[in-house]
Amino acid sequence: MPSAYVHGHHASVLRSHSWRTVENSCPHLLPYLKVPTLHILDVGCGPGTISTDLATRVPDGFVLGIDPSAEVIEKARKHAEEKGVKNIRFEVGDIFNWDQITGIEEGSFDVVHAHQVLQHLEEPVRAMKEFIKLAKVDGLVALREADFSAMHHYPDHPGIQKWKDLYLTVTKGLGFDPTIGKRLHAVAMEAGFPRNDIDATVGTWLFSTPEEREFWCGLWAERTVKSDFRDRVVDGGYGTEADLEEIAQSWKEMEKKEDGWLLVIHGEVICRKTP
Ligand SMILES: C[S@@+](CC[C@H](N)C(=O)[O-])C[C@H]1O[C@@H](n2cnc3c(N)ncnc32)[C@H](O)[C@@H]1O
Repeated sequence: MPSAYVHGHHASVLRSHSWRTVENSCPHLLPYLKVPTLHILDVGCGPGTISTDLATRVPDGFVLGIDPSAEVIEKARKHAEEKGVKNIRFEVGDIFNWDQITGIEEGSFDVVHAHQVLQHLEEPVRAMKEFIKLAKVDGLVALREADFSAMHHYPDHPGIQKWKDLYLTVTKGLGFDPTIGKRLHAVAMEAGFPRNDIDATVGTWLFSTPEEREFWCGLWAERTVKSDFRDRVVDGGYGTEADLEEIAQSWKEMEKKEDGWLLVIHGEVICRKTP
């Protein structure tokens, strides 16, 4: 039975999430982390590597990471413990039912942060309204989401294009928006932020060196056939096992291309909650 999250938390998925740091995944938030007492909520924290990194940057503050997956929250707790980070807590919970999570109160966070979460929700604007409730007045809501339609690769490879088309079809079919990165400012406006209170920027991940290609292409080769995404494709009638095998093979070929270049584009917003 696949989890609510389209990819599930297979090892190949977690390898991608666990590589994430503040520097590579929320550079837009860095300038605002100079206050060591900040209280930060990391929504959909996954295995918590970003949350733990955030906590090290606010040594007199606190980070609370929440995620509906008990399995991944266990991993997040272990990661923080291994890093010796104490000003952090992880709780199983869902942003739409945050009132059931211990220690969450309306208007109590300096920063509400979410990385690659809205693209997995059917109701991103409703989630954004919850983020606003949880932020303090003068606090920030900081988001970063990929736009899968804007992913680029070189050299051309029909199998990678097939993966991209399939990914967009499956996620849209599930009621999600895999291109939401390009309209985070619009989501924020629909949820109630005036345009003047929103800073919109763009951030990228580039995988081009042999090590970078091994990481990115290797994990997608595995995710394609082993994560919950496989079940979504096959059970949903979007493609066959053979299609997925072909795509996984394409990722392996891309990994070996010395001139290979894979670009991921993310939209980022910092929204300030005014009185
Ligand atoms: C792509 S992962 C991102 C994990 C982490 N933020 C990162 O970037 O490494 C999306 C996460 O959102 C979580 N998620 C899905 N629905 C959620 C909800 N309603 N409330 C909070 N988190 C949710 C999933 O369980 C998953 O761990």
